[in-house]
Amino acid sequence: MSESRIAKLAAHLTGFGAKAGFRVAVLGASGGIGQPLSLLLKKTNLVRELHLYDVKGTKGVMADLSHINTYTTVRSFEGNAELAECLKGCDLVVIPAGVPRKPGMTRDDLFKINAGIVASLAAGVADSCPEAFVAIISNPVNSTVPIAAEVLKRKGCYNPAKLFGVTSLDVVRANTFVAEACNQKPEKMNVPVIGGHSGNTILPLLSQTSPKNALPMDQVKALTNRIQNAGTEVVEAKAGTGSATLSMAAAAHRFAESCLRALNGEFGVVECAYVENSEAISQGLAFFALPVRLNKTGVSGFAPLTPLSDYEAQLFNSMKGALAGNIRKGQEFGRSFT
Ligand code: NAD
Ligand code: LMR
Repeated sequence: MSESRIAKLAAHLTGFGAKAGFRVAVLGASGGIGQPLSLLLKKTNLVRELHLYDVKGTKGVMADLSHINTYTTVRSFEGNAELAECLKGCDLVVIPAGVPRKPGMTRDDLFKINAGIVASLAAGVADSCPEAFVAIISNPVNSTVPIAAEVLKRKGCYNPAKLFGVTSLDVVRANTFVAEACNQKPEKMNVPVIGGHSGNTILPLLSQTSPKNALPMDQVKALTNRIQNAGTEVVEAKAGTGSATLSMAAAAHRFAESCLRALNGEFGVVECAYVENSEAISQGLAFFALPVRLNKTGVSGFAPLTPLSDYEAQLFNSMKGALAGNIRKGQEFGRSFT
């Protein structure tokens, strides 16, 4: 039996710290990601109460979802006046609020609008559910997570173990593309993706896949390039109507469910996420995506990685400056946000 199946069984048999279910909020719930993510959460056993928040449109989403015959109850909240009530008592807050890219834009081009949105929602979290796990999807993730950290710090409730940038879409994509190339089952493939979440800051570790692969170097390079630019592939295919929503909802659901399993006392939960860290591999980058171990208190440690291949080390060295700049930009904005 695999380690994770034993862990699941142990959590089930002992009921170790198990709760009947959790309260989860989606901020930006009427949007392209928010709606399918909320659908998946409505069908998730560990979600007892689902709170939908947006500036508009959540009453309709709630009416629709509430007809699905699952155990999860759904409530809707609209506008800043209802944010505190939405967040009260939440265990997990998932944030896909903000504008998406159009062709020709970088994720950093979204900073102007999304920085303020994420900062004000983080302030709401600090006021109403300072103990919650917070998972940020809104781009540019490399900067929005440091923004939220600074806002939470100023409110006196920053816990680095509970603030996450959601990078699971990079892992989901890497698993799909590498499995295709190796003729393996995509659901059995695991490719760690580290670094950040934009362009060359996305660093898939094809030297560390499970199962192992025997891909030649030219294919490793082509796949790395595709994984780094997969968001743009979707933005261009959608031709001005938005970016990845369905695959993102699936990836965010995977991450949210892992957080809830960890909160429920399950052992052995590991996900790649962009978090504050002091790992040697990040070499001074305050935030970095890595495979993190999750437990009830949030990040409990980092899963070990073997040394990077020469090619990966070279990619890491060439993206460090850009990622550090994104982090600094977010921190400066967060510190000055009022
Ligand atoms: P969308 O425009 O379809 O939906 C965004 C929603 O946010 C809208 O319903 C909007 O009303 C809402 N919103 C705006 N301001 C808000 C506020 N102050 N409070 C609450 N809600 C607010 O966009 P989308 O396609 O769902 O994408 C959302 C974000 O997710 C974008 O920034 C996008 O770049 C990002 N994204 C990230 C990843 C990732 O891997 N992390 C993947 C895909 C998209
Ligand atoms: C993605 O990777 O799909 C998202 O970050 C959205 C985008 O703008 O590419």
